[in-house]
Amino acid sequence: MTFSNPLLEGTRTAKSAESCILVIFGATGDLTARKLIPALYNLARDGQLPAHFACVAFARRDKTNETFRNELLEDVNNYSRSKPVDADLWKSFREKIFYHQSEFDNDDGYEKLNHLLHQLDAQFDTKGNRVFYLSTQPSFFTTIVEKLNQHHLIYNPATIKDKWTRVIIEKPFGHDLESAKMLQQELIQHLDESQIYRIDHYLGKETVQNLFVFRFGNPIFESIWNNNHIDNIQISVSEEMGIGTRGRFWEEAGMLRDIVQNHVMQLLSLVAMEPPAKLDADSIRDEKVKVLESIRPLPLDTMDDIAIRGQYGPGYINGEPVKGYREEDNVDPHSSVETYVALQLIIDNWRWAGVPFYVRAGKRLPKRSTEIAITFKNAPRFLFKTDAAKEIEPNVLVIRIQPDEGISLKMNCKVPALTTAIQPVKMDFRYGAYFGSTPPEAYERLICDCMAGDNTLFARDDEVIASWKLLTPLLNHWANQSPIDFPNYQSGTWGPEASEKMLKLQGRRWKLI
Ligand SMILES: NC(=O)c1ccc[n+]([C@@H]2O[C@H](COP(=O)([O-])OP(=O)(O)OC[C@H]3O[C@@H](n4cnc5c(N)ncnc54)[C@H](OP(=O)(O)O)[C@@H]3O)[C@@H](O)[C@H]2O)c1
Repeated sequence: MTFSNPLLEGTRTAKSAESCILVIFGATGDLTARKLIPALYNLARDGQLPAHFACVAFARRDKTNETFRNELLEDVNNYSRSKPVDADLWKSFREKIFYHQSEFDNDDGYEKLNHLLHQLDAQFDTKGNRVFYLSTQPSFFTTIVEKLNQHHLIYNPATIKDKWTRVIIEKPFGHDLESAKMLQQELIQHLDESQIYRIDHYLGKETVQNLFVFRFGNPIFESIWNNNHIDNIQISVSEEMGIGTRGRFWEEAGMLRDIVQNHVMQLLSLVAMEPPAKLDADSIRDEKVKVLESIRPLPLDTMDDIAIRGQYGPGYINGEPVKGYREEDNVDPHSSVETYVALQLIIDNWRWAGVPFYVRAGKRLPKRSTEIAITFKNAPRFLFKTDAAKEIEPNVLVIRIQPDEGISLKMNCKVPALTTAIQPVKMDFRYGAYFGSTPPEAYERLICDCMAGDNTLFARDDEVIASWKLLTPLLNHWANQSPIDFPNYQSGTWGPEASEKMLKLQGRRWKLI
């Protein structure tokens, strides 16, 4: 059975998801319920699961297969993109899921797991292949891979060729440069880098993958994708939501770690990368790393001019009053944690010399949206005098990642009249309207890619390290200087004034969302 990866389509044979057993560690958790099981169900529905497949759910609570399977049905009913659940499909799908109760550090639990996997190999003809999905707190990653190795559940790819082990890990991959390096060192004691699949679910999104096709499949855009034509690039991730019930997590993380270090830097590297020599995973990831390594280190002496942090205070979202961050559950009432970040980044290479990349990510902003806005330079000479003698607006190409995925181009147009009035208009392509179907969820794509051994859409160790290397000095700078003005933006507004000011000083402004 095959599936298509747009990054590879037309250039080499798309790989197939191979027979395997998927073991989910932390299977009674939120991620499994909301994303992983609905993704597996949808893969089954679309005929994308391998014919020889089983899933083992590893967690601590005592449950039978029966109770666990019944709970999953509720999760799929609640969170699947395709509803209602197909009763016949569910009947066969549920029979492939098995619950395994154990603590993560319990040797006996791994012995029993080994035994169960062999039994399922025989029952489902899964060929000894394993995906271990660590849907757990990162503090368990090392223990789990160590135990898996100790109990001979990880095959060395250098010596064992007829079956394979792959391990998916969930972010965060460290909380700064040192911890990221340490995690990597611990993992590679038990695994080869080629066996590690670091999920950044943004890379599984259709529009993010289309960014690559858009750039390298449309020569008219690629030819102007440089500092001769582009004035600046903005990447914005805005959320209406606050931190909800995740106060404890946020007090440890903050916006720079949770969104910018991974998702935003991934988007930036895809927008700015050179065309890869080949369309294989490593050639693509090599180019992404080169971008990250070309970003100018953040200058210690002027850090506050190019890196703005903010924290939301009380305000209104959609007309409803909402709490400030410091009033949220499990948050220190004097917390210095940032819920908004804006950065100005410079990429020191030929293509991007002189083109600032402005990135921002914030919670409790007026609208949920992730987009990349590419603003082109104006014509060298301004020919037209508009009635209002206004300056003509630049062309802006917007790639909307979510919601309402699509691409729009703003251009200037003569208003039909006897005057010479000029007005910006938008050419707008919407995925939903054009293709008329719901694209697969990011987790569907990523799980399927892992079962096929395609790690193109997973972060490689050097990408993760390069990103932490850039941002750790900023984390340290902020840790050493308590913000005196927090909370510095009202919920329901576009973030702190300093962020607007940063762009204004350069004669620019954030694109309206
Ligand atoms: N939730 C999301 O949307 C989301 C998004 C992105 C990334 N992530 C990441 O994904 C990972 C999992 O998140 P989650 O929200 O699903 O976590 P969670 O809801 O806290 O679930 C944790 C899971 O780990 C199990 N567990 C904890 N300690 C254990 C132990 N000592 N032995 C055996 N099992 C143990 C729990 O089992 P019992 O319930 O049986 O105790 C539960 O199944 C985290 O790293 C998180 O950062 C989550």
